[in-house]
Amino acid sequence: MEAFSFHSPRQVFIGKGEVERIPEILLRECPKRGRILVLTDQGVVASGGPQRIVNRIATEGFTVELVDSVPREPYSKDVDELSAQLRDKGFEFIVGVGGGSVLDTAKLLSILLSKKTETVGTLLEKGVPARGIPTLMVPTTAGTGSEATPNAIVALRDKQLKVGIVSPFLVPSYVVLDPDTTVGLPPALTASTGLDALCHLLECYISKKANPFSDLLALEGMRLVFSSLRKAFTDGSDLEARYTMLLASFYGGLCIASSSTTAVHALSYPLGGAYRIPHGVANAMLLVPVMEFNRDSVVEKLTEAAVRIGIRQGPGDSDLSVSFLRSLSNLVQDLKIPSRLGEFGIQKTVIPELTERALQVTRLLSNNPKLMGREEIQSIYERIL
Ligand SMILES: [Fe+2]
Repeated sequence: MEAFSFHSPRQVFIGKGEVERIPEILLRECPKRGRILVLTDQGVVASGGPQRIVNRIATEGFTVELVDSVPREPYSKDVDELSAQLRDKGFEFIVGVGGGSVLDTAKLLSILLSKKTETVGTLLEKGVPARGIPTLMVPTTAGTGSEATPNAIVALRDKQLKVGIVSPFLVPSYVVLDPDTTVGLPPALTASTGLDALCHLLECYISKKANPFSDLLALEGMRLVFSSLRKAFTDGSDLEARYTMLLASFYGGLCIASSSTTAVHALSYPLGGAYRIPHGVANAMLLVPVMEFNRDSVVEKLTEAAVRIGIRQGPGDSDLSVSFLRSLSNLVQDLKIPSRLGEFGIQKTVIPELTERALQVTRLLSNNPKLMGREEIQSIYERIL
């Protein structure tokens, strides 16, 4: 009977064509038809999707500004610059259209543009003081699950690390999950973001903070990933697979909002912060080695996960937790994720430094089911060198 809590967005719309509802939601939130910020990045804007959303909103008589300059995996100073550029424009509502970087930036701008806090540095130092401008998130990857979480991740240039700002005030007000928005995602991004979602689900499932709510979503979310990620990777236009992955990714976000990720994300942050390895790729590289390290402390849970994803006990399978890890490894290989840190220019000499930075991510490391110290972290990095 452990105590646990969770956050969730106020309202979530799920289904093909649901982006059409955005004007209706805005009319409810801003009946005086104030200024709306639609935030995205260069990659997503090229798809034409954000412009179509802007046009729909403008048709209803709102003043809309499209800003497409969110950088990939932004530094805190990038967010501060955007905030300085936008803070006197009187926005009443923010629509974030993109992957995790865009959605996390939209969350931070909701606070910064409400002028309750000056900079990301102050948010890191003093926490988030109050809810900011309301937000609506349209994820275009599946994904980070950012649309469901109270977290915003930024990179710190001086510390060469990524950090999370966590507050219930960062939970988005509205979410629209529409498979039409993820259809154009290229296979490599489908793979890395989909495996990031799987990391959220599995890490939250074996986390010390796991609870009945997160377990429910994690088990079902993992079943959905194993049933649909390969399909979405090989045929990007498979709308049903895209829909299923959006759902799995959202479940992963809800798991984060109730449980917590663990060592995969902790060891991944230095790779993103110092070497700019994309978040999903870094996680996917670490997923199997970290879970192999953890396996003996979570045998029962991994056995349950194996059954849930449909692994049948064969004559040679005495331990389903081992079979589960084999399926995990096969999935990562099938999705053709880079497997070696060397491909990103990382050499053995920097592993002690990466290890020290990973040790600083105590917010996540402390939730790992098995104690992971300096030596263990070092040997995991060495395994994927
Ligand atoms: Fe993640």
